[in-house]
Amino acid sequence: GTGKFTYDPGFMSTASCNSSITYIDGDKGELQYRGYPIEQLAVNADFMESCYLLLNGELPNNVQKQEFVDTVTKHTMVHEQMQFFFRGFRRDAHPMSVLVGTVGALASFYHDSLDINDAKQREISAIRLIAKMPTLVAMAYKYSMGQPFMYPRNDLSYSANFMRMMFGNPCEEYKVNDVLVRALDRILILHADHEQNASTSTVRLAGSSGANPFACIAAGIACLWGPAHGGANEAALTMLKEIGSVDNIPAFIEQVKDKNSSVKLMGFGHRVYKNFDPRAKLMRETCYEVLEELGLQDDPLFKLAMELEKIALNDEYFVSRKLYPNVDFYSGIVQSALGIPVSLFTGIFAMARTIGWIAQWNEMIADPEQKIGRPRQLFVGSTVRDVKPLDQR
Ligand code: SDX
Repeated sequence: GTGKFTYDPGFMSTASCNSSITYIDGDKGELQYRGYPIEQLAVNADFMESCYLLLNGELPNNVQKQEFVDTVTKHTMVHEQMQFFFRGFRRDAHPMSVLVGTVGALASFYHDSLDINDAKQREISAIRLIAKMPTLVAMAYKYSMGQPFMYPRNDLSYSANFMRMMFGNPCEEYKVNDVLVRALDRILILHADHEQNASTSTVRLAGSSGANPFACIAAGIACLWGPAHGGANEAALTMLKEIGSVDNIPAFIEQVKDKNSSVKLMGFGHRVYKNFDPRAKLMRETCYEVLEELGLQDDPLFKLAMELEKIALNDEYFVSRKLYPNVDFYSGIVQSALGIPVSLFTGIFAMARTIGWIAQWNEMIADPEQKIGRPRQLFVGSTVRDVKPLDQR
């Protein structure tokens, strides 16, 4: 029968779980992790503290933070054989495809943390994933460049270590720039979790069958890749480059508004926010800081983005649909300024979101009401009919 189920494509009005991790008020444009406003976390905490918070429910004190950081840094290396996985990819492979493969492959190395019913093993898997993601993302980059893989350095912070694995080389000491490291750390904080977005829901659905956490996170990475989701940061920067100059904005906006065109203003619009994405405001601030630090205040792409934002925010089409900039509108410009190639932007998002995925996965496993995810359908196909043998069709 078809009458028994609620038809809700895209889950516009279906809550799939109870969660106490992240709160969004889309009309007001508010975001909180475990009750803490994102604006305060961005200033008074770093990414490691945010990870601890998302995972454990409370911010760490100094001792707890140090213990957590020590534990994470003990797991930053990947198995030496992981190098062969990278070498199996084409050098021009998209880093997201490399990440889907290599993160999924982690399950074949860490048999001692795959029992999802054992809380201790779940914790070790969580730590392993948070610790190894930067190493894998940087390895994907180094491989694409034909440069040697860099081993992690545990005397550096999470974000500084990542920058060094990306941009350092074995021949010389890497000079850490605190402003740029802080900017990367803020990107990670802002992307860390966002309640039941598409990739997080994918992780939960994959996990609902009892699949191991490495497999579930690989599924999340696959979902995040899409341009309507995490791929939007890459798509937004590509769009800015294609628009090219402020003079071309009006023609581009007309194209977006044309009912017969599928062109979207990438980095705009959100399922939940019908107001400014609070992360976009923080990201724009970071954008200023980074460009100033690098002497790029006159960066044409940043100017173009600001002008595009201004024009869209005053245009009836965007106003009536409550379309505002989302986190990805400015994150691409920041990442570009940091020297991160466009194709790796979504990989950085995946690195940040790993903590959100794992915290949500943990919450689901621990939830006594958790069941295998199994949506129903409204069947609209043929009624029953007979199969004629091939020579009679
Ligand atoms: C992320 O869900 C999360 O929390 C995601 C995320 C996270 O942290 O996990 O916040 C990360 O994915 C950010 C979103 C990145 N995506 C983009 O920037 C791509 C561009 N934006 C869109 O494609 C779109 O806005 C979505 C996918 C983000 C939201 O889609 P919805 O909720 O399904 O809304 P919709 O597509 O039904 O849009 C409603 C109307 C439509 O017009 P009408 O048919 O009513 O005339 O608004 C229009 C849409 O055509 N519209 C846009 C638009 N976004 C929506 N028109 C032009 N440009 C856009 N960007």
